[in-house]
Parts: sequence; C-alpha cells; structure tokens
Amino acid sequence: MPQRYGPPDGDAEIRHYAGIVAVTFAGELPAFEDWVRSFGPDLRVLRDQGVVAGLTIYRMGQYFGGKSVPTWGIAGVAVPPHLRGSGLGLELMRANLHENFEHGPPLSTLYPAAPALYRKLGWEFAGTRTLLRMRLSDLPAEDSDASVRPAADSDEAAIRELYRGLHAGLNGCLDRSEAIWQRLRRAPRETPVMQFVAEREGRIAGYLMYLQKRDVPGRFSFDVVVRELVAADAGAARSLLAMLARHRSVAREVTLPASPHDPLLHEVLRTQEIPVESHMGWMLRVVRPAEALESRGYSPHVAARACVEIHDPELPQNCGTITLALEGGEMRASKGGSGPRLDVRGLAALYAGHLSPGELRAAGLLAGSAKHDAALAAMFAGPSPFTPDFF
Ligand SMILES: CC(C)(COP(=O)(O)OP(=O)(O)OC[C@H]1O[C@@H](n2cnc3c(N)ncnc32)[C@H](O)[C@@H]1OP(=O)(O)O)[C@@H](O)C(=O)NCCC(=O)NCCS
Repeated sequence: MPQRYGPPDGDAEIRHYAGIVAVTFAGELPAFEDWVRSFGPDLRVLRDQGVVAGLTIYRMGQYFGGKSVPTWGIAGVAVPPHLRGSGLGLELMRANLHENFEHGPPLSTLYPAAPALYRKLGWEFAGTRTLLRMRLSDLPAEDSDASVRPAADSDEAAIRELYRGLHAGLNGCLDRSEAIWQRLRRAPRETPVMQFVAEREGRIAGYLMYLQKRDVPGRFSFDVVVRELVAADAGAARSLLAMLARHRSVAREVTLPASPHDPLLHEVLRTQEIPVESHMGWMLRVVRPAEALESRGYSPHVAARACVEIHDPELPQNCGTITLALEGGEMRASKGGSGPRLDVRGLAALYAGHLSPGELRAAGLLAGSAKHDAALAAMFAGPSPFTPDFF
C-alpha cells in the first residue's frame, strides 16, 4: 500500500495526475500526458482512495551572485476542481517541502498562481519575469556587421554557452536543465519555434527563438512571440531585431522577454514608454538556510559580518541565530550570535537580492536592531533578480 504522498505508483496514477493537470490548466490530455511522463521519477502525488493532487519537479540550478545553486522548480501543482479548498494543496506542498528539506537541494522555486498558499509554508516573492509588447513597425530595422542565418543542430553547444555566459552573473536566472531547454522549444505543431543565430567571422554572437501566433483564425496578420533573444553585443542585437522588424508586412506586434535593465532596450527604446504584456513574480523558499547561504556567490570586494535570528515556523530545525561572515567571495554561516528577527520568507527575498533590509522591515519580515542592516545590504547587493524562463 503506497503512502499518502510520494511518486506515482505505476502508470494508472501517472495518467490520473495527467488528467488532473489537463483539466486544471485547460489543456489537451495527450499533450499533458506527454509532458507529465517526461518527468519520470520527478512527479509527486497525494492519494486518498486514488490520486487527489500532484506536482512536478524540475531539478535545476538558479544563479545567485554568479554561482549556480541547486533548486527544485515546482510546477503543475494541481487539485481537481471539486476537491479544491479543503486543504489538499497545502498538504501536498507541505509534504514536498519536508521531502526537500530531508533529501532535496537547499532551495525551491516556483511561479505561484496562489501566493497565499506558498507564503503559509515559507516561500516569498524573490524576482520577476517581464514580457514587453511592441509594434514591429517600431523596431529598428538597420542591420549590423553580424549576419543572421537559421540555426543548425550543430549550433546547440554555442547557443547554450552564450546563454550561460550572459546569464550566470544575473541573479535569479536559471541554470537550465535539459527539461527547461526543451520547454523553451515546446510549441503546438502548427506554430513551430523558429531559431536563428547572428554570427560574425564564424562565431555566434546571438540567437533568437520565436513563434508566429495567429490569435484570430482567418485574420491575415499574426503576432510574433519571442521565446528568447540573446545577444552578446549591440551589433548582434541589432541584426536579430532587424530580422524581426522585417516581419512587419505580415505581423503586427511582438512580445519579448526582457530583464529589468536589459541592454537590448538600448536598441529598441524609441520612446520612453514600452507596454508591459506581463509582469510575473516567482517565489523562492530557502529550504536549508546555512547551506543555501554558503552555496551562492558574493562580491569578492565585500568583507562584512552580520547576525540574524531566523524564524521558520514550518521547519523549526531552521530556527535560531546565525552569524554570517563574508570575505573573499566566500560566506560562512555559523550558529550563534545575536541579531534582528528575520522571517524565512524575508530571507528568501534578501538572499535573491530582491528586497533590501529596509524594504524587509517595511514588509514586516525583519524586526529588531538595525545595526546589521548596512552589512546585510552590502552582502546581498546585486542585479535585480529576474528570469526569462517560465516553468
Ligand atoms: C491552488 C490549488 C493548488 C490550492 O489547492 P487547494 O487544495 O484548493 O487549497 P487549500 O485548501 O489547501 O488551501 C490552502 C491555502 O491556499 C490558498 N488558496 C487556496 N485556493 C486558492 C485559490 N483558488 N486562489 C488563491 N489562493 C488559494 C489559501 O490561502 C488557502 O488557505 P486558507 O483557506 O486558509 O485561506 C488548487 O486550488 C488548484 O489546483 N487550483 C488551480 C491550479 C492552480 O492554481 N495551481 C497552482 C499553480 S502554482
């Protein structure tokens, strides 16, 4: 007899969970069944005379301070409509958090359709994902010395290296697993993801992945949905944007993921205002604080000490005061000392560089003596956390 929470026990439970996911996210069962099956052992279900809830786990990393910290990306959290509101979602997430604490990585990351559920267990908003919407006729259409050609299979290693090189230094970006790379390319059959690279003297300096989406059947023009536009320099960005701009006789608008201070915007900003198509927040859970704090990167130019008393009602093992000592880019987190009270949700936002100590105080997540605030601010200062990925 399988336990109440755990990986699906055989094919019938996998199919049952896939059915819940398809109903919950208004999708087609065959597509969701393929997606669910691709996770193999990384599915979890809750049972009560059959499957009553489930989730999927992306095993991946997230870059903080230039280092990849292992995390579980939680997705596909679903309870069937007739069973919602009776505590199953909370029970499922609690069981997953405790499993993560015992056997998983030091962090957990998710996009929260229901933030209150995750807040109860210690997740907090820690970064964003922003999609801009622009008229194709507003994009610059001048080429540069970088030429654009369709991507070949043999470009894959260079594409991934370019992504890593440009994102590893940006807080919150994913150290993508194979499943995340596949997600970027997954699309309905009738709208394939098109891929191009910009190159100069045989070296790839940028790439573009997009699909063409016709929202209104029968209408002549469509929209361009950019999955990813990555450029190592302004010339590569210009050539890729110019190619997009040349869709303007058949397409109207383009949506495009952008970071908070995206250098791409230097190329596209022709006005002071760009409409935001979507601005979502993702949440982070610091599951094992000392390990998480010692695993991320820090500026080698900051030397600082601070104490905080972590408050984590869901995982009392994490409660207590720790002393943080940062030097030469290495953090040591040891028990003891005396400092202000930091809710574990506040720790997530601080860890990612999303909220400063002052902002944490205003949010009610940090309380007590402010004498360590300046040291904490210096330790966790960095680029605004974001990720171009949705999962
Ligand atoms: C969100 C979902 C997983 C929650 O599961 P559930 O069993 O219905 O939720 P619970 O009864 O365990 O509620 C736990 C807490 O979650 C929050 N919550 C629950 N349902 C919610 C909803 N529909 N919207 C916003 N918050 C919700 C509440 O804070 C609730 O606590 P409270 O009742 O004390 O206020 C479930 O409603 C569902 O499958 N919804 C559709 C899919 C979805 O949104 N998935 C989440 C993807 S991140």
